[in-house]
Amino acid sequence: MTPLLEVVGLTKHFRTGGGTVRAVDGVSFRLAAGETLALVGESGSGKSTVGRAAARLIDVDEGRVIVGGEDLTRITGARLRASRSTVQMIFQDPFASLDPRFTLLASIAEPMLVRGVAGRTASGEAMALMERVGLSRALSARLPHELSGGQRQRICIARALAAEPKIIVADEPTSALDVSVQAQVLALLAELQEERGLTFLFITHDLAIVRRIAHRVAVMRGGRLLELGPADAVLRNPQHEYTRALLLAAPVPDPTRRRQAPPPTAPSGWEATWSEFAPGHWVAR
Ligand SMILES: Nc1ncnc2c1ncn2[C@@H]1O[C@H](COP(=O)(O)OP(=O)(O)OP(=O)(O)O)[C@@H](O)[C@H]1O
Ligand SMILES: [Mg+2]
Repeated sequence: MTPLLEVVGLTKHFRTGGGTVRAVDGVSFRLAAGETLALVGESGSGKSTVGRAAARLIDVDEGRVIVGGEDLTRITGARLRASRSTVQMIFQDPFASLDPRFTLLASIAEPMLVRGVAGRTASGEAMALMERVGLSRALSARLPHELSGGQRQRICIARALAAEPKIIVADEPTSALDVSVQAQVLALLAELQEERGLTFLFITHDLAIVRRIAHRVAVMRGGRLLELGPADAVLRNPQHEYTRALLLAAPVPDPTRRRQAPPPTAPSGWEATWSEFAPGHWVAR
């Protein structure tokens, strides 16, 4: 597999008043085009830091984030701006990521205007995106505070799509939503993936969501990856003690829908430290 995204030895330590937090410590994984990799683990395990680094929203201390052969951690200027649209991020709190003064339509059109798309074209495309994510035209002049949480998250999805990304890093995008809205948003993301060949790094603490949408799952604790494999294999037959504890703490209902996983591949350079239990299923020693 030629990975679309390759994260190699990612390390990020934060220096705080109380000392150094080793948020991410040598994390490596690959994402194939069109794949969804779920990143799970307890609070503070470093998931969001990995996601932010993959979207180049933060600088890293060590390691590489390679997208389409280019190391995002090393580029600047125009190339960095171009890569910003390649990897888009969706956050848990859509309210915080929207400008309160922008109407729904303006929020979606903005990334296109920034890219130099003409106003009329941008507003036409924003209108189409708005409808694609399930927002009615009648809402186009509303401000974020005049919409529901689910509607706001749909704006954020449309905004991400407006940048024409290849990869979307979704950081707990549905955890603030009501269960029924959560299901609708997950279904929308799955449809968009199929339609546009999108690749997802999907951060969640909800194992039912993993079962529903992920091809593979990576388990993090204390800034490191403990286990990585096809979602089915990891959920049914967890190899790391910590993954087993995680599953015991939150039993996962039977799968409602199985997705076909891409061919399993060992992460490069990990052969020495990861041992194989099932095809493509790796666990830290
Ligand atoms: N800007 C920062 N400055 C200092 N420490 C930080 C910063 N960002 C994150 N951390 C710390 O790094 C560690 C990992 O944080 P991160 O947000 O990546 O965890 P997470 O797995 O996303 O957790 P959660 O599930 O609660 O969102 C935590 O100990 C956190 O306190
Ligand atoms: Mg987080």
